[in-house]
Amino acid sequence: MKFENRVAIVSGAASGMGLLSSQQFAENGAGVVLTDVNEEAVTEAAARICDAGGEAVGVKVDVRCYEEIEAAVELAVERYGSVDILLNCAGGASSRVCGHSEPFHEIPIEVIDWGLDVNLKGAVYFCRAVLGHMIRQERGVVINMGSVEGITGSRCLDYGAAKSAMIGLTKSVALYGAPHGIRSCCVSPGPVLTRPEMANMKTRLGRAAEPEEVTNLILYLCSDEAAFITGANYMIDGGRSIGGPE
Ligand SMILES: NC(=O)c1ccc[n+]([C@@H]2O[C@H](COP(=O)([O-])OP(=O)(O)OC[C@H]3O[C@@H](n4cnc5c(N)ncnc54)[C@H](O)[C@@H]3O)[C@@H](O)[C@H]2O)c1
Repeated sequence: MKFENRVAIVSGAASGMGLLSSQQFAENGAGVVLTDVNEEAVTEAAARICDAGGEAVGVKVDVRCYEEIEAAVELAVERYGSVDILLNCAGGASSRVCGHSEPFHEIPIEVIDWGLDVNLKGAVYFCRAVLGHMIRQERGVVINMGSVEGITGSRCLDYGAAKSAMIGLTKSVALYGAPHGIRSCCVSPGPVLTRPEMANMKTRLGRAAEPEEVTNLILYLCSDEAAFITGANYMIDGGRSIGGPE
């Protein structure tokens, strides 16, 4: 039970890797605050964790709204007494999520705003909301979800920019938090099979990742076994970002 007496707060926890990480945190003894803009799904996800014997609560949080983030962090502290882990997982390529297939220079500005706000600004907001508690506790871990497209670039320009910035955010949190025992890492996956179509994206290893391959890395980075790791970006992309000859 690696995370006994630890409290994790996860954004984008209603599906995909946010949900799976939440389940794994709970299986390993953490109290988990699952947050997502999809209230029904996140509430149900938390209830399933509790039914399985875990400790969890689901809260509606749109990461574009600082007040909702702050309320969820306050709930974590009131209910469980601390916030030890923050996983900034909410995100996605704006063109796909918002259903736009035009070239970037014709994409509506609202779609670009969605991409920057959900993939980057929400993570900065969440850091703002947890860091005071982590500094008082003199411990904490912040994991930011990047993407291989934050390294290679993306045809969804706001997504590529936001995911690159997650690496900068990670280093800045690591710098800011280190004197207080706070660590931060970025995890940058290649294609992950949270959606079947990700199997079509090429990697050097000839396949996409199983979600567990990524969440197992997240859990390791949050654990005490990773106590000397901070400010680092971890590519987990089957070699997609290597470049070089075909
Ligand atoms: N799946 C991949 O291939 C892949 C690859 C690289 C990076 N990533 C990144 O990993 C993260 C998780 O990906 P996934 O495929 O597991 O995602 P997913 O699409 O299954 O889950 C994303 C979650 O974010 C939530 N969300 C959307 N807008 C929100 C908002 N405004 N506020 C709060 N929550 C919101 C959604 O409701 C959803 O539950 C994302 O940041 C994504 O960019 C995924």
